[in-house]
Amino acid sequence: MADHQRNETAEDPRLRDRRLRESKQREHKQDYTGPVKQFVRKHAWVPAAQSRHEIVRDEGREHLRYFTLCAEEAIDVRLFRKEKLVESDGRGYPDIVFCEHFPDQYAVIAESLGRTRGFLADFKSLVLDRNEPKSEDFYSELPFDVYNLDFTGMCFPRGDPPFSRTLDAIVSLVDELGKPRYQKGFDIFLTFRADRSNENEEAIKQLKGHVRENKRERDWFRNAFVERYEDVGRLLDSKYHEFLLLTLPKLFGSFGMDAGFRVTCPYRLYYQRPNPPSRPLFYMISFVLSFDWVKERRKSLQRLCSRQEILLHAYTKLLQQLFKQDITNVNKVQFDYDLYEQEVKELLALSDEEF
Ligand SMILES: C[S@@+](CC[C@H](N)C(=O)[O-])C[C@H]1O[C@@H](n2cnc3c(N)ncnc32)[C@H](O)[C@@H]1O
Repeated sequence: MADHQRNETAEDPRLRDRRLRESKQREHKQDYTGPVKQFVRKHAWVPAAQSRHEIVRDEGREHLRYFTLCAEEAIDVRLFRKEKLVESDGRGYPDIVFCEHFPDQYAVIAESLGRTRGFLADFKSLVLDRNEPKSEDFYSELPFDVYNLDFTGMCFPRGDPPFSRTLDAIVSLVDELGKPRYQKGFDIFLTFRADRSNENEEAIKQLKGHVRENKRERDWFRNAFVERYEDVGRLLDSKYHEFLLLTLPKLFGSFGMDAGFRVTCPYRLYYQRPNPPSRPLFYMISFVLSFDWVKERRKSLQRLCSRQEILLHAYTKLLQQLFKQDITNVNKVQFDYDLYEQEVKELLALSDEEF
């Protein structure tokens, strides 16, 4: 067989990559067009965005500035429009910016969202590769009121260093928003795949260490931890998704505190995937973090606490909240699947003028 023929019969890596990518996209689409994801939108994203919207309105603005990884159907954008949280001017969404790493999906989104600003880029590069023109453009769009980082992948993929690029990007963004020209509140909605078999073990070890340090430092933390989970190793091995839903908000809370924000975590949810079930089963985790800027206090108003003490107190409150608050297993919640499916269909059917 001639060389060129041999190349044709061996699996063409580009075709294989495309096939794998398309099958992943189909799987993701099933996820985000289904009723369970709609539950997350309605019971976590909408109320969190409404709370932020109230703050924004008190500041004299009518609508949210919203950054999103919206995918081609942009169901979150449709829902927020319906809830009057974001504005459309008939040609696009002046206060929305979207980001998408797949060119074919980007083209579909760009077409349906009209003149809305979009980035064909990986979110991590947009934030971290600051010498790139796209990244400069992204920074010129800051700040937003809500960043919906609805990732399809893991927070600590095996191929990344333990302090993954995703983590680095989010922390860098929070640091940036703590600089004097911003210093105002915002929310981050985070969604990750929790799939321990494909995550970086060293990163997990470090997260575990982060919990252990606290266990040593503070009596109440140890008591609360033991009361709820008994042992960090057991939690990690038996409920990895719950381990992440404890350690990630805690980690972002400590980075938020370092940047000058009071961080709360009003919603934490998880649900099993893929649907319909097939091996390997894993969970998707979703949580909301609200960042509110802690102002410098004038000396005369200062009671007993310095700004640093206020931040530390807020962080302790976050930790207490993470132990007390229930985590929603969406698969166990009784809700009308047909109704939620119907709602997604109705959002998808919105005409151009309504959307
Ligand atoms: C789960 S979907 C978004 C669904 C949407 N938020 C909704 O409510 O229906 C995530 C989208 O973001 C894209 N995406 C995932 N990770 C990304 C990243 N790191 N950078 C850019 N786009 C990403 C995916 O290709 C997909 O189109």
